[in-house]
Parts: sequence; structure tokens; C-alpha cells
Amino acid sequence: MPEHEHSHDHGGQDTNDAIWKSEIGVTFWKSTRDDRERRRGAHRVLMAELLPFAADEAFTFVDLGAGTGAAARTIMDHYPAARAILADYSPQMMAQGGIELEPYAGRYEYVEFDLAHGGAWPAAIPAQVDAVITSLAVHHVTDARKQELFGEIRAHLVPGGWFLNYDPVAAGDPVIEEAWHRAEDRRDPSAAHKRSHRSAEEQLRYENHVRYMIPLEPQVAYLRAAGFEGVDVYWKELDYVIYGGRRPVTS
Ligand SMILES: C[S@@+](CC[C@H](N)C(=O)[O-])C[C@H]1O[C@@H](n2cnc3c(N)ncnc32)[C@H](O)[C@@H]1O
Repeated sequence: MPEHEHSHDHGGQDTNDAIWKSEIGVTFWKSTRDDRERRRGAHRVLMAELLPFAADEAFTFVDLGAGTGAAARTIMDHYPAARAILADYSPQMMAQGGIELEPYAGRYEYVEFDLAHGGAWPAAIPAQVDAVITSLAVHHVTDARKQELFGEIRAHLVPGGWFLNYDPVAAGDPVIEEAWHRAEDRRDPSAAHKRSHRSAEEQLRYENHVRYMIPLEPQVAYLRAAGFEGVDVYWKELDYVIYGGRRPVTS
């Protein structure tokens, strides 16, 4: 495995597009929404709290892989003058987001953007924005693309602009993974059974979930290599993290 490649190699086909650009994908996402927001809502709030804006400040941010807008919505709730650009590539997720974001009409727009491929960002995203966030999406792109994307994000930030990523990470060590499972199993006594008894659809989704998921340290290193400062893991619990940094003010 090349030094910059930490991903699980399942040898199989990349099923990400088939899963997300489907009615099944969005139906699953909708059906698990309440549980997810109960578990993840506070982490999304922390992302909002980490941003450097005054409560009434007007600013523009991009949410990469925004899906139905859960992360962007939390930022807009905290900053009533904020404007969001929600980038995603799934027509189904964006259509559902259009329904859920009705109360935010006029404050956001969706932009179609495939994060898996490099090149120019869509013209609808301004050349520079005040902040970039992403939630539960970066683990869907390859290591090489993560590195490239972080550079693109830095280039699209104003000097001093922040980038925050909320994402699951891989353990990369069986002892760590066992400890994560131990804690998970105490919280949810059915977790071990669920892990070893996945339906075909759950297995497909799981394989897609972990395909390009890598440990935390290389990702933090990618961020530093891309020229961010103030790089830190601002929050972590077992396999979920929020890391980020800002574009230096002087660059
Ligand atoms: C797990 S969901 C997270 C959605 C949202 N950010 C949240 O936190 O609720 C992953 C999102 O990433 C999007 N996505 C996955 N791969 C993508 C890609 N290559 N380009 C753009 N969006 C992608 C999916 O369509 C989906 O909306």
C-alpha cells in the first residue's frame, strides 16, 4: 500500500454513487434521521460554536456533501445572518433537503458537486467563502482525493477562514477497534449482534461506509500539508471526530 493510501481495500466495486443516488439511499437516511440527530445534534452544535463569527454576522459558508442539510441547518440556526451553499451530488438527497430546508428558504442554495473528482469547483460556489464545513462525507472519497480536496478547500477560503470536518474514522489497530466495540456494546446491547448479522443491504451500506475510511492521524497530517494552521482534533468520541483548522490570515 503506498504511504498515502490508508483505506480499506475491499477489492470490490465502488458502490457509493449507486447508494447515494438512489431512492433506497434517501429512504434509509430519512428513516434513521431522528436517531441520528439525537446522537449527533450536539456535535453539529459544537461545529457552529467553533466558527469565529459574531452571532449576528453575515457570512457565507459551504457545506460539502451536505445531504439533506443537517449540518448547514445547525450553522444557520446559530447565525441568523449566515448564508449556506450546500454542495452534494445526489439528486435524491438534494430533493429531500429542499423539503426539510423550507424554513430556510432564501438563505441557502444547493449546488451539484461531485467531491470524488478533482478539477474546478462549480461556478455557483464563490471563489472564496468565509468557512467550509463537511459532515459525514469526507470518508466517502479516496485518500488521494482527501488530500487534494483539503488543498482546494484552503484555496476557496478567505484568509483566516475555517474548515471543519465531522466524520467517522477507522481505528487502524485491532486493540483500539476492540475498545470502541466494547464501549459501543455496553451502550447498545444489540450492537454486537447487529455487526455480525447484517442483511445484504446493510452489508452493502457498511462496505460503502468503511471503503475509504482511514485513521485520524493521516487526515490531520493532510490538513497541515495543505497549509492550514490551528489544526486540531476539536472533539473526538470513539470513532467520530471533528477536526479542522483555518487558512492562515497572511496567505
Ligand atoms: C452520510 S450523508 C451526510 C449528509 C449530511 N452532511 C449530514 O451530515 O447529515 C453523505 C452525503 O454525502 C454525499 N456524497 C457522497 N459521496 C459524494 C460525492 N462523491 N460527491 C458529493 N456528495 C457526495 C451523499 O449524497 C450524502 O448526501
